[in-house]
Amino acid sequence: MNPRQVEHLDKLVADRRALGDKRKIEIHRGDFNTVIEQVLVPGSRREKEATFCLLDQRTFECKWDTVRKIAEYKKTNTKIEQFYFLAVGWLGRSIAALKDDKKLREWWGRDDIELPRSTSHSVELARLFSHRFMRELGYASAAAWPIYERSDGGRGKVMYYMIHATDHEEAPKLMNRAYKAATLASQPMEHTQACFDGEGFDLGDIAKRYDANE
Ligand SMILES: C[S@@+](CC[C@H](N)C(=O)[O-])C[C@H]1O[C@@H](n2cnc3c(N)ncnc32)[C@H](O)[C@@H]1O
Repeated sequence: MNPRQVEHLDKLVADRRALGDKRKIEIHRGDFNTVIEQVLVPGSRREKEATFCLLDQRTFECKWDTVRKIAEYKKTNTKIEQFYFLAVGWLGRSIAALKDDKKLREWWGRDDIELPRSTSHSVELARLFSHRFMRELGYASAAAWPIYERSDGGRGKVMYYMIHATDHEEAPKLMNRAYKAATLASQPMEHTQACFDGEGFDLGDIAKRYDANE
């Protein structure tokens, strides 16, 4: 993160304090994948404290290992809820622009980086990420919410998905309401509906290859 952005955050906090806001707000400078260790120290979050983590990366700044650490932090009750930004609209171009595989491998968290590299079906990638949150990290539910090019309720191309992973049974319903209010979309995507109904959905070719690589 560049120092100007940190200064801006410091100013936002100072403004809140000036207004009498006494909530605990901490700014940690540095690479999130490293400074997360300062946040996830044992005992810093009560086991029963509702905790929500927005992973607002641009493309692949957040390593899968970090996602795993967040999922593993709480040992009892519900895990930290995660809201993970999955860029798909510009993913192919971003992958092509990488100088080596290290960043991609750390983001993906597995050696089979040919999977994200080769897929042209972004919905399948989104479904696979949801599947991974449940299968690898043990979340009770994970749903991919598409965010379209046009924010006026019209559709256009899907630019990114927000993957919402939670153990709380009410949380997907709250997310459904928030999604509808924010996007004006009348229906979330069909597989999300399938999750709510507790039914399976076809994960697609990429997930079959992912399973085969395990
Ligand atoms: C998509 S922006 C989101 C910013 C913010 N959440 C907002 O809504 O305004 C992603 C931000 O993460 C920062 N960033 C990227 N990689 C990072 C890293 N490894 N550690 C900390 N910040 C990072 C970028 O500088 C950028 O400001």
